[in-house]
Amino acid sequence: MSSPSALSPEPAANSDVATAPAAATVTAIILAAGKGTRMRSARSKLVHPVAGWPMIRHVIAAVREAGATRAAVVLGHEAEAVRAVLPVDELSLSTVVQEPQLGTGHAVRVALDALPHPTPADPADPADPAGGPGVALILYGDMPLVSAATLRALLDLHWRDNYPLSLVSAVVADPRGYGRILRDADGRVVGVKEQKELAPHEEGIAEINCGVYCADLDWLRQTVRALPRHPDGEYYLPDLTPHAVRAGGVGVLGDTDAAEMQGVNDRAQLADADALMRARINRRHMLAGVTIVDPARTYIEPAVRIGADTVIHPNTHLRGETVIGGACAVGPDSEIADSTLLDGATVVRSVVEGGARVGRGCHVGPYAHLRRGAVLEEGAQIGNYAEVKNAVIGPGAVSHHVSYLGDATVGEGTNIGAGTIIANYDGVNKHRTTIGARVFVGSDTVLRAPVTLGDDSRTGAGAVVLRDVAPGQTVAGVPAREIPSAPPLPRQGEGVGGEGNP
Ligand code: UD1
Ligand code: CA
Repeated sequence: MSSPSALSPEPAANSDVATAPAAATVTAIILAAGKGTRMRSARSKLVHPVAGWPMIRHVIAAVREAGATRAAVVLGHEAEAVRAVLPVDELSLSTVVQEPQLGTGHAVRVALDALPHPTPADPADPADPAGGPGVALILYGDMPLVSAATLRALLDLHWRDNYPLSLVSAVVADPRGYGRILRDADGRVVGVKEQKELAPHEEGIAEINCGVYCADLDWLRQTVRALPRHPDGEYYLPDLTPHAVRAGGVGVLGDTDAAEMQGVNDRAQLADADALMRARINRRHMLAGVTIVDPARTYIEPAVRIGADTVIHPNTHLRGETVIGGACAVGPDSEIADSTLLDGATVVRSVVEGGARVGRGCHVGPYAHLRRGAVLEEGAQIGNYAEVKNAVIGPGAVSHHVSYLGDATVGEGTNIGAGTIIANYDGVNKHRTTIGARVFVGSDTVLRAPVTLGDDSRTGAGAVVLRDVAPGQTVAGVPAREIPSAPPLPRQGEGVGGEGNP
């Protein structure tokens, strides 16, 4: 089978980090040790899905797309469960467990201690203007909506202004609960103060610390050890700011989209984040030439690829590593998971999963179920309560009504009559069935595997086939026996009476 054409682009590669000094490395540090109490969940909030991905995967995808070359994830609460969902093969990803959890500043210190020291700084190197071995991009694992574009903008600003620390701020209508950006009379940042430490006259400050930082790695290694301990026993990462002010200043990427910066703390915010992420994914596909009839009721996971001129009808779920070609139609009410549709295929009210492959111009549905190992070759049609598992259905073959085709090969142009069942399982083992080309399987046939039906053979309605059928032979009855005087097979397109129901 060829691969689908004209797929919508994958997320931009990181080659456009134009302003990065040539030798600069970006190390992402993602804080994910916290408990997430407000989710009221037995599981870490970071494994709860947003658009089908554990939310922390979105953060990792964003830092990778922004140009990070390695990432360290700080784990604590439910460490093993979070580790299990991390895409360890993406980026050079390492994890470290923070125990006890003494605050965000402590978490970064733990991460740095665990990271292998990069090569020593070379201030003489013009490709390394910060005089350090690179920068750390620090953010929280519960910010699934943070975009690579924002992270890149922060990195660009950091390299341009050359301060030891840069951070992202936003002005929001309700700043309660967030750390606030403190500025002096000239508008220069002087610090960040947490909600619980605000003086009454500071409560009205609407500019919040979003919790996304960029820092020179060498400076950070030293400074994170100098953070003060607060009365609650914690070390706060935003306390880096006064140190940076003394060392030259703090870069601020202001005016960012507050929705993008929103952390997920409870299930209501989880649903909000899910809707925003789905809208973002749907928009990417629409701009690449995919028609989505009702984006609010279309559920496409991040890794799915779709060709131009494909139409996605409402209540369709496209999951996992699904690839859909051009000019296909999917839905309504369908789910495609980890499967491939080639150009011009249509799927209506059906489930296609487990790596199934649907060839060019095939039709699936309504109410079909294609499972692992199902392969439909060009123009095949499966529908109306038909199930296919671990079976190759040849070009133009049809199974239109109420059938089970498991562990089988079906040849080109074969017609599977209504109610056909392949009895592939003897209670202990599964066995294979081979059905040749242009075979006519009569309604309500049972094929007891292992069995072979030769090319151009036929079975009568209600046949129970226990033995191989020779090419051109017709069998009928229980158990099925040859009918030597069977009338010739009707040609394609002619009626076939009540026997096969094409
Ligand atoms: C933090 C910032 C605040 C900012 C806000 C933005 C601090 C002290 N405050 O507040 O200025 O406005 O985020 O959302 O940083 N974590 C660890 N280990 C720890 C503590 C926390 O890994 O010991 C992780 C948590 O899992 C979480 C993140 O760090 O992902 C932030 O911690 P949290 O306690 O939620 O900080 P906020 O109070 O939201
Ligand atoms: Ca938080």
